[in-house]
Amino acid sequence: MSFIVVPVARALLGAVVSVSLGAPSLFGQQAQPLEFKSDTLKQGDIASGQTSLLGIRKRGMEVFATPFTKNVGYGDGPVNAADPTSPGGRPTLQNNSKFLRVNGLDAQTCMECHSIVSNLTVPFTFGLGGVGGSNANAMAKPTTIDVADTQHNGFAAFNGRFINPPFLFGSGGVELLAKEMTEDLQTLKARAMRQPGVTVPLVTKGVNFGTIQFVGGSLDTSGVRGVDPDLVVRPFGRKGQFANVRAFDVSAMQFHFGMQPVEAVGFGVDADGDGVVNEISEGDLSALSIFLTTMDRPRRTTESTAATNGEGRFHSLGCAACHMPALETRSPILTYSFPEVETDPTQNVYYSTDLRAARPGFQANGVGGIEVPLFSDLKRHDMGSGLAESTGSDLDRYFITARLWGVADTAPYLHDGRAHTLEEAILLHGGEAQPVRDAFAALTDSAQQELVAFLMTLRTPVAPAGDLMPPQPGDRRLGQLR
Ligand code: HEC
Ligand code: HEC
Repeated sequence: MSFIVVPVARALLGAVVSVSLGAPSLFGQQAQPLEFKSDTLKQGDIASGQTSLLGIRKRGMEVFATPFTKNVGYGDGPVNAADPTSPGGRPTLQNNSKFLRVNGLDAQTCMECHSIVSNLTVPFTFGLGGVGGSNANAMAKPTTIDVADTQHNGFAAFNGRFINPPFLFGSGGVELLAKEMTEDLQTLKARAMRQPGVTVPLVTKGVNFGTIQFVGGSLDTSGVRGVDPDLVVRPFGRKGQFANVRAFDVSAMQFHFGMQPVEAVGFGVDADGDGVVNEISEGDLSALSIFLTTMDRPRRTTESTAATNGEGRFHSLGCAACHMPALETRSPILTYSFPEVETDPTQNVYYSTDLRAARPGFQANGVGGIEVPLFSDLKRHDMGSGLAESTGSDLDRYFITARLWGVADTAPYLHDGRAHTLEEAILLHGGEAQPVRDAFAALTDSAQQELVAFLMTLRTPVAPAGDLMPPQPGDRRLGQLR
């Protein structure tokens, strides 16, 4: 196997530069095979501060956008007949030996699924870290797909997950909020343990996660709401399963590509039996997660009168109870830990970034932290049977409140992309949101349109990693962003 190190970086970064300078054509360059090379940036060089943040982010972009191939560990070894859904041995479609599509092995780069910055233009505005259309939905871990509808109920029985890719913009602010909320909840848990029999309310940043109590020598978590019983706030994944971007990335590498991170399988270990070891290094994952958490955040455009009225209705109807417009942090600094101790994110810190920097560009809140205008409470809610998944898990009806920042640009909506329009997305709310949904449905058409006009002021960033990747020429977005 031969690695072509320098041309990889040059081909990728060279391509970017040529776009930004308006150079004649990408195709005018000498074509080079693009092959991923792991561990070109060592964890030690990131931790020691030897590599600049820009250098780290560039490497992260490479990890995000260089196609993985069988030479570097794409895919798994022999099929695992005992568990065809496990990364580490899956069948492929029609013996094509590359893609399965229904259980991972569904793309070659992260970017393929996370690449639409806005779909309000024709053609789409493409860019790193954006959403995916329905074609990019992940279909995770089904063992039954009854397309023949043998139950004759109008839908194919399916016991996996069918999920639409969200964008990764502003994820640094989300991760910092979650870390601080986790710290608060752990402190409240410690308080409960010091005061046996006392019911302690679990409130952090204005979000109510129920109560906890220490009785008979053990913690009673039956009153905990919208967060796991370990009181770790996990904002990533539509179910809220991942505490930080890195944890998600580790799992995405294995699920989508069969690329095995050293930190998941061990150094020198060929866990998927494909003949390749050390497929993704610690440094690769650090660079990837630093790149993603420093992407620009979504912005708001200036509002029309209709949008201002709509914003009022967003509050008066009760949307803001879940879609909380902004949460604030105590610190502007996002720390990165490896390995991360989820219940104590202050341990094992190896790097940090200032979220007020040009990217991601969060605004200081005046009291030492930043404002994260995410339109979410980072809490899980029961959304009713209509939106429920069918995996058999207790969490089938539950989703973490979708962050509405950027929502103007990110159709299709809801976890599986079933809603083509914002009205549809709102009308499909059920469960805990049923009364608010009904109040929206009862509005006059024009009042509904005002609420939608407000949502249309919530835009994705124009150039999410603009210093690495310039805005696309097709981007015709107008309006003052703030
Ligand atoms: C086949 C399409 C696909 C590919 C390829 C893909 N993703 Fe995703 N990504 C998704 C979907 C779908 C979700 C939503 C997952 C969920 O809700 O559990 C997601 C969610 C995420 C999230 C959480 C975002 C949030 O706000 O909750 C991160 C981070 C992420 N992906 C990173 C990556 C990285 C890094 C790679 C490459 C290693 C990658 N993804 C490859 C489809 C994809
Ligand atoms: C009980 C909490 C709750 C309330 C109240 C609520 N929502 Fe939601 N909202 C959610 C959750 C959870 C999701 C994600 C559901 C899914 O993905 O299937 C969501 C999704 C959305 C989406 C789709 C976002 C996307 O990117 O896919 C929109 C738009 C939205 N809500 C708008 C509203 C509006 C407007 C109101 C008020 C009329 C409202 N919501 C009230 C919890 C709530």
